[in-house]
Amino acid sequence: MEKTFLMVKPDGVQRGLIGEVISRFERKGFKLAAAKLMVISDDLAKKHYGEHADKPFFGELTDFITSGPVFAMIWEGEDVVKTARHMMGATKPSEADLGTLRGDFGLTVGKNIIHGSDSLESAEREINLFFGEDAALEYKKSS
Ligand code: CMP
Repeated sequence: MEKTFLMVKPDGVQRGLIGEVISRFERKGFKLAAAKLMVISDDLAKKHYGEHADKPFFGELTDFITSGPVFAMIWEGEDVVKTARHMMGATKPSEADLGTLRGDFGLTVGKNIIHGSDSLESAEREINLFFGEDAALEYKKSS
């Protein structure tokens, strides 16, 4: 079954939005396969956001994502990578539709509540980076 990596960022955790995020994905019908509250190391932040290393906001990005606890998750379900991106909304909260997580709760492009893998390849890479290869729980076919 397809899996994606989602992470409630420090602003989302601090504002008490973990439950809201979990609830939306549960109600949509996706299944939570792994989750942990953690503080990201500098090293992990640089690896996770490696594709943005040459962007002017890279320092701000890694400083913010390591600034407090995040809630890292693996979710599974049909087309979960693409659907989760729709449910998150556009990266810039000012451009995100109401009804999406960023549209309803986000404030700025940096403090935009949630990160989600943007492709199947990113999902595999990010799941391995945060959880290792065999961390996702396997649901029985009927559940
Ligand atoms: P995310 O989906 O976690 O992936 C990369 C992140 O970079 C993105 O969400 C934004 O939070 C962040 N980002 C993008 N543009 C900027 C910017 N101009 N300034 C600060 N952060 C940014």
